[in-house]
Amino acid sequence: MEQIIVTQGDITRLDVECIVNAANRSLLGGGGVDGAIHRAAGPGLLAECRTLHGCETGEAKITRGYDLKAEYVIHTVGPIYSGTAQDERLLASCYRNSLELARSHGIRSIAFPAISTGVYGYPLEEAVSIAVQTVRSWLAEHQDWPMTVVLCCFNQRAVGLYQREVNKP
Ligand code: APR
Repeated sequence: MEQIIVTQGDITRLDVECIVNAANRSLLGGGGVDGAIHRAAGPGLLAECRTLHGCETGEAKITRGYDLKAEYVIHTVGPIYSGTAQDERLLASCYRNSLELARSHGIRSIAFPAISTGVYGYPLEEAVSIAVQTVRSWLAEHQDWPMTVVLCCFNQRAVGLYQREVNKP
């Protein structure tokens, strides 16, 4: 079964069990994909997010999906790009913690946006390689829990970069 799928489009429209939100530490919504997910999920999402009392960078928290097709939303907070070594560590932990949280909720299909590559300024090429390497190693470490991971791109450039990274041996 194809475990990593690259696709282009609006993550809020994907028919997967869980979509990942590139949130900020307040978890109270914002622009970019955060704004799109809250708009599509409706007010119930923000109401539940208020009960979570924020989220640290690199961490992940889960809510229901409300009006989304997805049953769950996992909110993770990517690093604001700083050019230091902790960027890579924190970005990788967003993917790893989201996958762990999904597994602990019995989720078998999950879609990620390109975390931190918008407002948070992470260079796309670097972020794509960290995303694919982290997802790939997590899947290899958890073959007892086959998961379909969709890497959802918002533009053609990202598709090309993700596809190239996924196709690397
Ligand atoms: N579907 C899929 N991808 C999307 C969508 C969408 N509907 N909208 C935006 N994107 C892509 C962007 O093109 C970018 O590649 O998601 C990626 C992440 O960009 P941002 O949404 O800006 O997220 P991020 O860079 O992690 O910054 C997070 O932005 O929106 C605020 O509240 C959020 O403060 C937080 C910050």
